Amino acid sequence: MTGLFITFEGPDGAGKTTQVEAFARALRQQGYDVLVTREPGGTPLSDKIRALLLDPAHKEMADATEVLLYAAARAQHVQEKVIPALQSGRIVVCDRFVDASIAYQGYGLGLAVAEIVEINRFAAAGLQPDRTYLLDIPVSVGRLRLGQRERLDRIEQKGEQYHQRVRNGFRQIAEQYPQRVRLIDANRSIEQVHAEIMADFQAWQAANQVARKGELG
Ligand code: TMP
Repeated sequence: MTGLFITFEGPDGAGKTTQVEAFARALRQQGYDVLVTREPGGTPLSDKIRALLLDPAHKEMADATEVLLYAAARAQHVQEKVIPALQSGRIVVCDRFVDASIAYQGYGLGLAVAEIVEINRFAAAGLQPDRTYLLDIPVSVGRLRLGQRERLDRIEQKGEQYHQRVRNGFRQIAEQYPQRVRLIDANRSIEQVHAEIMADFQAWQAANQVARKGELG
């Protein structure tokens, strides 16, 4: 595949969506062909699954159901949208991916991380991001930002301790995959966070091109 797959992750209220938009805008200005998408969602079928997952009325949802619905939404999204875009050489910028299932369902719900990884390897057909920006923010700050919204979804409504486990989970993922995941302090201004992401992306792109030339010999 010739494209690039870049994901954004982080606890609720970290400002991911704003940063995804700013990142995509900057890349388009540089002439790249960029597809912005998100999980859960990104296709009509996956958006229906998203609605099921986030509806606060579904309090009875079993943990296994939650894991599998996120994975099902992902499978459809990867097959229908992400892989075709990568095959045609586009940069795919995705708001959340498998790391979110590891952090929220694995660490958050206390399920076996190895099983979540396996289920998602199948769901995503082994696809992995080339680079991941993990926007880290203290749970209290993230929740304050969310408090400005009118209605919280089913996941956002879960308690403070759950969200603390999710944040710790994300930080562990960053430690485990230092080559791929870049931990960003998101408790700063939008401009500062954006500048750090752009600087990293440019440096990473340059290093990548050198590595590719080396491979070609
Ligand atoms: P969003 O707020 O980034 O749109 O994501 C919706 C919610 O779904 C958010 O609270 C994080 C959660 N989520 C998971 O729990 N597992 C996943 O695999 C994904 C993609 C999202």
